[in-house]
Amino acid sequence: MIFREKSTAILSRSNGSFNHSTQNPKKRNFVWEYAKSIEAKDHIHLKPSYDLFIGGKNVKSKKYFETINPATEEKLAEVAVASKSDVHRAVLAAEKAYNRVWSKTSPKERAKYIFRIARIMQEKAREFAVIESMDGGKPIKESKLIDIPLAIAHFFYYAGWADKLNLAFPNVNISPIGVVGQIIPWNFPLLMAAWKIAPALACGNTVVIKSAETTPLTLYKLAEVIKEASLPDGVVNIISGAGDTGEAIVNHPKVKKIAFTGSTEVGKLIMKSTAGTDKKITLELGGKAANIIFEDAPIDQAVEGIINGIYFNQGHVCCAGSRLYVQESIKNEVVKKLKHRLKSLRVGNPLDKNTDVGAINSKMQLKKITELVNSGINEGCTLYQPECSLPDKGYWFKPTFFTNVAQANRIAQEEIFGPVLSVLTFRTPKEAIEKANNTQYGLSAGIWSDKGSKIFKMVSSIKAGVIWSNTFNKFNPASPFGGYKESGFGREGGKQGLKEYLNFN
Ligand code: NAI
Ligand code: MG
Repeated sequence: MIFREKSTAILSRSNGSFNHSTQNPKKRNFVWEYAKSIEAKDHIHLKPSYDLFIGGKNVKSKKYFETINPATEEKLAEVAVASKSDVHRAVLAAEKAYNRVWSKTSPKERAKYIFRIARIMQEKAREFAVIESMDGGKPIKESKLIDIPLAIAHFFYYAGWADKLNLAFPNVNISPIGVVGQIIPWNFPLLMAAWKIAPALACGNTVVIKSAETTPLTLYKLAEVIKEASLPDGVVNIISGAGDTGEAIVNHPKVKKIAFTGSTEVGKLIMKSTAGTDKKITLELGGKAANIIFEDAPIDQAVEGIINGIYFNQGHVCCAGSRLYVQESIKNEVVKKLKHRLKSLRVGNPLDKNTDVGAINSKMQLKKITELVNSGINEGCTLYQPECSLPDKGYWFKPTFFTNVAQANRIAQEEIFGPVLSVLTFRTPKEAIEKANNTQYGLSAGIWSDKGSKIFKMVSSIKAGVIWSNTFNKFNPASPFGGYKESGFGREGGKQGLKEYLNFN
């Protein structure tokens, strides 16, 4: 790594640490230049075409679509579109597996299978990470350090619960639900699959899961792992396709439970179409989280938390801290530090280990982000973007924040799902609570303060499913995750996540 100030290299790496001795602290006009460190791709195995994975077999479909790398616009593979009759076939395979095998498999044996899936995933972790970054555009350091290890951790965690369900829910009769339908989004493909498949299997259900349009590949890799783990055929069926494939899963009469993560709009459609049926549903939908910084907070850590809260995974995060509420007395300091920090974010090739902000997942999402950012400009908010060059090909958006934002502005109300932060202010804790709760969503929030009592007061007054204090975007398989209001209902993760996959009678 080289540190340059006005094109003169003055800092070099020695003994693994950075030597700042020659740095002039008064001069702020510097840039960090990193030698490229591109993750190797030669160890990954991608097929030119992926069929559906139904009943333990690869099943051809009538139609295929392309999945591309959003950082290069290059085609990665063709992927099957599951028609209504393919969905039917997958549901029947799951029903057969449930009746004949999985409902008769002892909890201890179920645990072994889930554990085995986790172990094989670990062996292939690097391959999973590279494919996740290629298919979806996320920085390799995130897929390697967060997405894939967390997905694996969910399988390990729920393997542990499989034979302890009676301890989790004592003195009640519990039973599996049967065939469950699961529909996931494109922002954390493998992780969302793990959140859904692992507890479903631990509780004794069988699964039909659909990946999202732009990111089907790691799920088909997972199908290979499932095969290798010798999970009985049909216990997990993996399919791909767009909204109508999802709709066919939702409307299938033999599907007894729907677990959905995605937009609030589709969540509402699912509510409507399952009304009047006995299907159980859990919905994990959008968010517009408040990240609240008090004047007594450790400011530098808070700035890191703000950055992680909104620029992690290009802001394609339902629990992203997209509304920053900063106490008025420290607003100028925080904004100054944010500007400085944004200049050092590296935007570009997702496979470069130095990259902080990767590619926007799709052309459609880029269009949506651009439209909402333009609305912010038109409504009179002040835009800040650092100077940085973006690659010629692919879908990119500079890390962005807005100041002079009013509560009523669209960028303070709507989920942008991109690297765009709205900065707002407050004076008192009461005002912060009112403003934080002034949203249709209620998924997550962050509170930064040195005072524990203040944090507890805020936590009990903010209507959000997950509230982080003095940190942000931390996940653990043992912690339940889910929302209030239009962010959905039901919890995934932890003991609470098991409840959603069981009947109580
Ligand atoms: P989406 O909600 O349309 O897609 C999520 C999943 O639902 C995909 O697998 C999709 O194929 C499926 N789906 C679509 N229509 C369906 C239907 N009628 N019935 C059943 N399944 C259906 O989200 P989309 O269009 O990809 O993104 C649009 C916006 O939604 C984003 O800009 C973002 O604001 C939000 N979003 C939020 C997510 C979250 O985790 N909260 C995840 C993805 C998107
Ligand atoms: Mg793709």
